[in-house]
Amino acid sequence: MKVFITKKLPGNIETLLKKNGFDVKVHKNEKPISKEKLMKKSADADALICLLTNKIDKEVIDNFKKCKIIANVAVGYNNIDVDYAAAKKVIVTNTPDILTDATADLTMALLLAAARRFVEGEEMMRTGSFTGWDPNMLLGIELKNKILGIIGAGRIGKALSYRAKAFGMKIIYADKGKNPQFEKEAGAKKATLNELLKKSDFVSVHVPLNEETHHLLNKDNLKLMKKSAVLINSARGEIIDELELIKILKAKKIFAAGLDVFENEPNINPDLFKLKNVVLLPHIGSATLETRSNMALLAAENVIRVLNKKRAKTPIIK
Ligand code: GLV
Repeated sequence: MKVFITKKLPGNIETLLKKNGFDVKVHKNEKPISKEKLMKKSADADALICLLTNKIDKEVIDNFKKCKIIANVAVGYNNIDVDYAAAKKVIVTNTPDILTDATADLTMALLLAAARRFVEGEEMMRTGSFTGWDPNMLLGIELKNKILGIIGAGRIGKALSYRAKAFGMKIIYADKGKNPQFEKEAGAKKATLNELLKKSDFVSVHVPLNEETHHLLNKDNLKLMKKSAVLINSARGEIIDELELIKILKAKKIFAAGLDVFENEPNINPDLFKLKNVVLLPHIGSATLETRSNMALLAAENVIRVLNKKRAKTPIIK
């Protein structure tokens, strides 16, 4: 049976898959695979291991002759038409849990970087414009006793809250359901989205991207945020209306933003580069050696199980 992998991945899953008797083909080119090539290579594959940058739409799924599993090397799966795959009896898996801590760490780092103006400070150092300690220089926002509003109290949102608590922050959250265990563990209080935006000193987005969450933060509600607030997004760019966010950052209607994700990756709105009050990272939430290797391994394990007619470890069940 053939497994097609759309990019060389960290770790050594090729050997593992080969040991399990599979014929493994990998797109080794540094450039992302084109849709055309992906379709050509996956047409006769029994399993596809793919990335969040590969759009697996109806056309790709219809082109499969015998593919039984699409193993996404990401926790988010908005790149895959999961409903259509299910209708075609193709299992889709993702990589939850194992990237939670790495992503929560990165989110905390972004929060600190935006609050304490790391990028402006770095630039000052590298351009030789630091002339000595100055009581008025690069004053940021303190974390202690501030309210962190977490939008989406799932795995990553919760992991962030535990980190934030260690910094003395108070937690509120907006989510579809009520989460008593989280409320108890993090001392978190539930709020509506609008209440959260009004009250929070820091807002961090942790919902999956889908039709309901597309532009969840938009022209109407971004304006509710405090002038001193910091907005962080390490989930998906499309959850925030980026043009509106740029407008409020330009007008200094919030203090700063920290973004690891963007609406049209890898094309970044050039206006963002002109703003000093935004920290920009290239979608590296889960990018640690350990986590990326574990993500690849979990995708491979899902493939091995499904092709051996066993239940996938982490199937997406909607
Ligand atoms: C990364 O963005 C992921 O969804 O794993």
